Amino acid sequence: MFGNSDTKSLTMNQPYPDSLLDTGVQGVISKPLDRVDGPFKVSGTATYAAEYDIPNAVHGVLVSAKIGHGEVRSIDIDAAKAMPGVIDVITDYDSFLRNSQQGGETKAPTQGVKQVDYFGQIVAIVLAETFEAAREAALSIPVEYDYKSGVYNFEAHRDEAHKPPKAMIPPHYSQGDPDKAFDEAPVKVDVTYITPSQNSAAMEPHASIAVWEDGALTLYGAYQMPTSDASQLADALGVSKNKVRIVSRYIGGGFGSKLGIAPESVAAAIAAKRLGRPVKAVMLRQQVFDATVRRSNTEQRVKLAAGRDGRMTTLVHDSLVSNLPGESFFEPVGIGTHSLYASENRRINHDTVDVNLTLSGSMRAPGEAVGMVGVECAMDELAEALGLDPIELRRINDPEQDPEKQVPFSSRKLTQSMDEGARRFGWDKRNAVPGSRREGDWLVGIGMAAATRNNQLQQSSAKAEIHPDGSATVSSAMTDIGTGSYTIMAQIASEILGIPVDRITMKLGDTNDPPAAGSGGSWGAASAGSAVYLACELLREKLAKAMEVDPADLTLKDGQAIGGNRQVAISDLVGDGIEATGEIKPGKQEKTHTQASYGAHFAEVGVNVVTGEVRVRRMLGVFAAGRVLNAKTARSQCLGGMTFGIGTALTEELIHDTRNGKLVNHDLAEYHVPVNADVPQLEVHFLDERDIHANPIHAKGIGELGISGAAPAVVNAIYNATGIRVRDLPITLDKLL
Ligand code: MOS
Repeated sequence: MFGNSDTKSLTMNQPYPDSLLDTGVQGVISKPLDRVDGPFKVSGTATYAAEYDIPNAVHGVLVSAKIGHGEVRSIDIDAAKAMPGVIDVITDYDSFLRNSQQGGETKAPTQGVKQVDYFGQIVAIVLAETFEAAREAALSIPVEYDYKSGVYNFEAHRDEAHKPPKAMIPPHYSQGDPDKAFDEAPVKVDVTYITPSQNSAAMEPHASIAVWEDGALTLYGAYQMPTSDASQLADALGVSKNKVRIVSRYIGGGFGSKLGIAPESVAAAIAAKRLGRPVKAVMLRQQVFDATVRRSNTEQRVKLAAGRDGRMTTLVHDSLVSNLPGESFFEPVGIGTHSLYASENRRINHDTVDVNLTLSGSMRAPGEAVGMVGVECAMDELAEALGLDPIELRRINDPEQDPEKQVPFSSRKLTQSMDEGARRFGWDKRNAVPGSRREGDWLVGIGMAAATRNNQLQQSSAKAEIHPDGSATVSSAMTDIGTGSYTIMAQIASEILGIPVDRITMKLGDTNDPPAAGSGGSWGAASAGSAVYLACELLREKLAKAMEVDPADLTLKDGQAIGGNRQVAISDLVGDGIEATGEIKPGKQEKTHTQASYGAHFAEVGVNVVTGEVRVRRMLGVFAAGRVLNAKTARSQCLGGMTFGIGTALTEELIHDTRNGKLVNHDLAEYHVPVNADVPQLEVHFLDERDIHANPIHAKGIGELGISGAAPAVVNAIYNATGIRVRDLPITLDKLL
């Protein structure tokens, strides 16, 4: 009698004060559970995109353009086909380009068929019986080009910056008269910070296996947002959405680079259709760097002014970023600046320089990850100019409500994070005079920065089932990109249904299951987790009905339903099984309240006076991100983010040849992400918080909070250690000598 699938929908128009997770008696939510998918990963039974054993599959390797701007005149397909094992070469340039849609692109940022807009752009796919044969031919196939002059040097063209053409968020914002207020203020800083292009550098390269059956495509791919990726793919292939299924069960890191489809998916799909055989395409490591997305470089001019009491009167954050001509995405450098500090006069502008370099797109914490460098380092400089402690300056300018929209914050524990961090880190031992602490050949300093990352909710759904044996299954087209989604969603279901986690089967990453926004923008846990919550709440109501009690009087624990003086096994209440779907949608709460996660980073560095080498000695992040759903996976997210911050401060930099845009360091050997020896003991501490405006589970985004502000804490520590203010990242040793 309960077999019908019902849906519980919630639009976040109102606060949601009472969460079932507060009262759950299963006692599993927030606990530091090991990952439920951990055993599959360590035993090699977690199947990643390229690992599906599909019979009769052809290997495809992409062909990269070797010019920075121009047109493909010819590709010698016959020469490639004459090579052993090669089956065919497919050159649907325009489709491949359209497929590089990332970061919300809706149209290919290119003008025409055959056009090459950046070095390394994908122009063909070679298909062969073995990977080796396909690679050999792909790397040696003769391609002829007509060259055009291009723009490869941001520096040389920065004066041609213009407003982003069709931006998704407003690129320019102004309030009051910031220039006048700046001129009149007694204390001010006007500084420019530079950050280079970066790559997400996920360990797993982009990979797809395309299988057509009866006119429908199944694509095993490494994608963060399968629901929207399937739409993009259908669009690129010119087929209807319901003909494309994406399966993305395990993803070896994405960090933004797998938000949208990459060229290998469309190339594999087109090739598989034409050949009538499945096609597996794995991007070469260099192609991942060259032809997926980069984080744009930034040039950030920050002007801060304050009265002698430290109250800021001007906050200007003007950024230049770089894009392919016509791109609608731009690195939203100032996105965190809008609501971080009070100041009546404000300007937050973004302008873009057109370049012939890899498409710019989202990389972990687009905006804040690099934007906080400009603002938080400038705050450090302003504090020194004022003779104020950096934490005190931030406290004075901590706004009571959103300084632009004049609406309250849903929850905001910035000062609490700074105070807790100061206490834990020993901030009171900081010597405010730079360069004054020396240990042998090492100058030692400490620095801090605020952390903030905007909180988002995205429409998502999930299904929960209780089977006749009392076990459960939760399914959603949500993904786990290494973040812990499998585990936290099992914990949410377990807590509400009173079914132990080991009796819950998780199914994620398949567009045959209820659609979800996937993993992006730190919205995954809150969005898909809320959908799971709602589905389970509805199942709970069904169980209450079967028990003939009010849901409020029902206790579900360890597989038992308790209420009305009765205790019954849940398995005895569900007949042939019951199921329910939950669906969450963003609503008015995000307009009536500014929502963000907050925190504070602290870093201690040693700088060698002989070599200029910087070693991060210790680092602490204190974070307030609403309810922590799993203390272990949340901590891991923050450790990863802080590690990214060390990379931004010290090592990471894409280097483009200014003659043709060729990416010189397009692999993990030459693009320096921090390795174990670069990362000291990191400490993470969470403040207790619930956000009733965010969603029914009261959690806010955590995935990108740990990186936002981490780099400037290191940069500020280097200044405190040395008295040298490096404003051009990464701070390699040559900049300190
Ligand atoms: Mo994130 S850059 O939205 O994966």
